[in-house]
Amino acid sequence: MALAERMETALNDQVTRELSASLAYLQMAAHFEAEERPGMARWMAAQSDEEAGHARMFIDYLVDRDGRVEIGAIDAPVSKFDSPLHVFEEALRHERYVTEEIRNLYRLATELGDLESLPFLQGFLVEQVEEEALVSGICERIGRLDGSEVGLALIEAELGGRTGTGEE
Ligand SMILES: [Fe+2]
Ligand SMILES: [Fe+2]
Repeated sequence: MALAERMETALNDQVTRELSASLAYLQMAAHFEAEERPGMARWMAAQSDEEAGHARMFIDYLVDRDGRVEIGAIDAPVSKFDSPLHVFEEALRHERYVTEEIRNLYRLATELGDLESLPFLQGFLVEQVEEEALVSGICERIGRLDGSEVGLALIEAELGGRTGTGEE
Protein backbone atom coordinates (compact mmCIF):
# COMPACT_ATOMS: atom_id res chain seq x y z
CA MET A 1 0.00 0.00 0.00
CA ALA A 2 1.33 3.41 -0.97
CA LEU A 3 2.26 5.71 1.86
CA ALA A 4 -0.22 8.55 2.34
CA GLU A 5 1.32 11.98 1.89
CA ARG A 6 0.43 13.02 5.45
CA MET A 7 2.09 9.88 6.80
CA GLU A 8 5.18 10.47 4.66
CA THR A 9 5.49 14.02 6.02
CA ALA A 10 4.91 12.86 9.60
CA LEU A 11 7.53 10.10 9.30
CA ASN A 12 10.02 12.59 7.88
CA ASP A 13 9.32 14.91 10.82
CA GLN A 14 10.13 11.99 13.10
CA VAL A 15 13.46 11.40 11.33
CA THR A 16 14.28 15.04 12.05
CA ARG A 17 13.20 14.73 15.70
CA GLU A 18 15.34 11.62 16.25
CA LEU A 19 18.34 13.43 14.75
CA SER A 20 17.57 16.43 16.94
CA ALA A 21 17.52 14.11 19.98
CA SER A 22 20.85 12.64 18.85
CA LEU A 23 22.37 16.14 18.71
CA ALA A 24 20.90 17.06 22.09
CA TYR A 25 22.54 13.99 23.67
CA LEU A 26 25.82 14.68 21.88
CA GLN A 27 25.81 18.19 23.36
CA MET A 28 25.13 16.70 26.80
CA ALA A 29 28.01 14.25 26.30
CA ALA A 30 30.33 17.15 25.48
CA HIS A 31 29.11 19.01 28.57
CA PHE A 32 29.91 16.06 30.83
CA GLU A 33 33.32 15.58 29.17
CA ALA A 34 34.11 19.21 29.96
CA GLU A 35 32.87 18.73 33.53
CA GLU A 36 35.19 15.73 33.99
CA ARG A 37 32.34 13.27 34.34
CA PRO A 38 33.41 10.67 31.74
CA GLY A 39 30.86 8.06 32.85
CA MET A 40 27.92 10.36 32.27
CA ALA A 41 29.56 11.56 29.04
CA ARG A 42 29.82 7.97 27.83
CA TRP A 43 26.21 7.27 28.69
CA MET A 44 25.08 10.37 26.79
CA ALA A 45 27.25 9.50 23.77
CA ALA A 46 25.72 6.01 23.64
CA GLN A 47 22.28 7.60 23.90
CA SER A 48 23.19 9.91 21.01
CA ASP A 49 24.17 6.91 18.85
CA GLU A 50 20.92 5.18 19.75
CA GLU A 51 18.86 8.17 18.59
CA ALA A 52 20.82 8.33 15.33
CA GLY A 53 19.97 4.65 14.93
CA HIS A 54 16.28 5.45 15.42
CA ALA A 55 16.52 8.10 12.69
CA ARG A 56 18.02 5.49 10.35
CA MET A 57 15.21 3.06 11.17
CA PHE A 58 12.62 5.66 10.20
CA ILE A 59 14.60 6.44 7.02
CA ASP A 60 14.78 2.73 6.10
CA TYR A 61 11.06 2.39 6.72
CA LEU A 62 10.28 5.39 4.50
CA VAL A 63 12.45 3.94 1.72
CA ASP A 64 10.83 0.49 2.07
CA ARG A 65 7.42 2.13 1.70
CA ASP A 66 8.60 4.02 -1.40
CA GLY A 67 8.42 7.28 0.50
CA ARG A 68 10.60 10.29 -0.12
CA VAL A 69 13.17 11.05 2.56
CA GLU A 70 13.67 14.69 3.39
CA ILE A 71 15.53 15.62 6.56
CA GLY A 72 14.29 18.89 8.03
CA ALA A 73 16.08 21.77 9.74
CA ILE A 74 17.30 21.11 13.26
CA ASP A 75 17.46 23.75 15.99
CA ALA A 76 20.62 24.05 18.06
CA PRO A 77 20.35 21.91 21.19
CA VAL A 78 20.33 23.33 24.73
CA SER A 79 24.00 23.73 25.67
CA LYS A 80 24.04 25.37 29.11
CA PHE A 81 23.29 23.32 32.18
CA ASP A 82 23.36 24.20 35.89
CA SER A 83 23.98 20.71 37.26
CA PRO A 84 24.01 17.01 36.34
CA LEU A 85 20.37 16.86 37.47
CA HIS A 86 19.49 19.66 35.09
CA VAL A 87 21.04 17.72 32.18
CA PHE A 88 19.06 14.57 32.91
CA GLU A 89 15.87 16.57 33.46
CA GLU A 90 16.38 18.12 30.05
CA ALA A 91 16.87 14.61 28.60
CA LEU A 92 13.62 13.48 30.24
CA ARG A 93 11.75 16.50 28.89
CA HIS A 94 13.00 15.65 25.39
CA GLU A 95 12.07 11.96 25.71
CA ARG A 96 8.53 12.86 26.84
CA TYR A 97 8.15 15.16 23.85
CA VAL A 98 9.33 12.41 21.48
CA THR A 99 6.93 9.93 23.10
CA GLU A 100 3.98 12.23 22.50
CA GLU A 101 5.01 12.72 18.87
CA ILE A 102 5.25 8.94 18.31
CA ARG A 103 1.79 8.62 19.87
CA ASN A 104 0.61 11.19 17.33
CA LEU A 105 2.19 9.17 14.52
CA TYR A 106 0.38 6.07 15.77
CA ARG A 107 -2.90 8.00 15.93
CA LEU A 108 -2.37 9.21 12.36
CA ALA A 109 -1.60 5.68 11.10
CA THR A 110 -4.81 4.48 12.79
CA GLU A 111 -6.82 7.31 11.26
CA LEU A 112 -5.42 6.60 7.79
CA GLY A 113 -5.85 2.85 8.11
CA ASP A 114 -2.11 2.45 7.50
CA LEU A 115 -1.92 -1.02 9.03
CA GLU A 116 1.74 -1.61 8.11
CA SER A 117 2.89 1.41 10.08
CA LEU A 118 1.19 0.32 13.29
CA PRO A 119 3.56 -2.52 14.33
CA PHE A 120 6.57 -0.45 13.26
CA LEU A 121 5.45 2.46 15.45
CA GLN A 122 4.42 0.16 18.27
CA GLY A 123 8.05 -0.88 18.67
CA PHE A 124 8.96 2.74 19.24
CA LEU A 125 6.14 3.25 21.74
CA VAL A 126 7.44 0.35 23.81
CA GLU A 127 10.99 1.71 23.46
CA GLN A 128 9.83 5.11 24.76
CA VAL A 129 8.32 3.53 27.88
CA GLU A 130 11.77 2.06 28.63
CA GLU A 131 13.58 5.29 27.79
CA GLU A 132 11.38 7.45 30.00
CA ALA A 133 11.57 4.98 32.90
CA LEU A 134 15.36 4.84 32.59
CA VAL A 135 15.93 8.60 32.45
CA SER A 136 13.32 9.44 35.10
CA GLY A 137 14.93 6.81 37.37
CA ILE A 138 18.31 8.50 36.98
CA CYS A 139 16.73 11.93 37.67
CA GLU A 140 15.11 10.59 40.82
CA ARG A 141 18.36 9.07 42.09
CA ILE A 142 20.43 12.17 41.36
CA GLY A 143 17.73 14.37 42.92
CA ARG A 144 17.84 12.30 46.12
CA LEU A 145 21.62 12.87 46.44
CA ASP A 146 21.09 16.56 47.08
CA GLY A 147 24.41 17.39 45.38
CA SER A 148 26.52 14.80 47.24
CA GLU A 149 29.72 14.30 45.22
CA VAL A 150 30.20 10.79 46.63
CA GLY A 151 26.76 9.76 45.47
CA LEU A 152 27.28 11.37 42.09
CA ALA A 153 30.57 9.49 41.70
CA LEU A 154 28.74 6.19 42.26
CA ILE A 155 26.13 6.99 39.61
CA GLU A 156 28.90 8.26 37.36
CA ALA A 157 30.73 4.91 37.65
CA GLU A 158 27.53 2.99 37.00
CA LEU A 159 26.57 4.99 33.92
CA GLY A 160 30.11 4.71 32.58
CA GLY A 161 29.70 0.93 32.65
CA ARG A 162 27.25 1.13 29.80
CA THR A 163 28.73 -0.76 26.88
CA GLY A 164 28.40 -0.27 23.16
CA THR A 165 25.40 1.50 21.75
CA GLY A 166 21.75 0.83 21.84
CA GLU A 167 21.94 -1.07 25.10
CA GLU A 168 20.72 -0.14 28.52
FE1 LIG B 1 14.56 7.83 19.75
FE1 LIG C 1 15.25 8.36 23.20
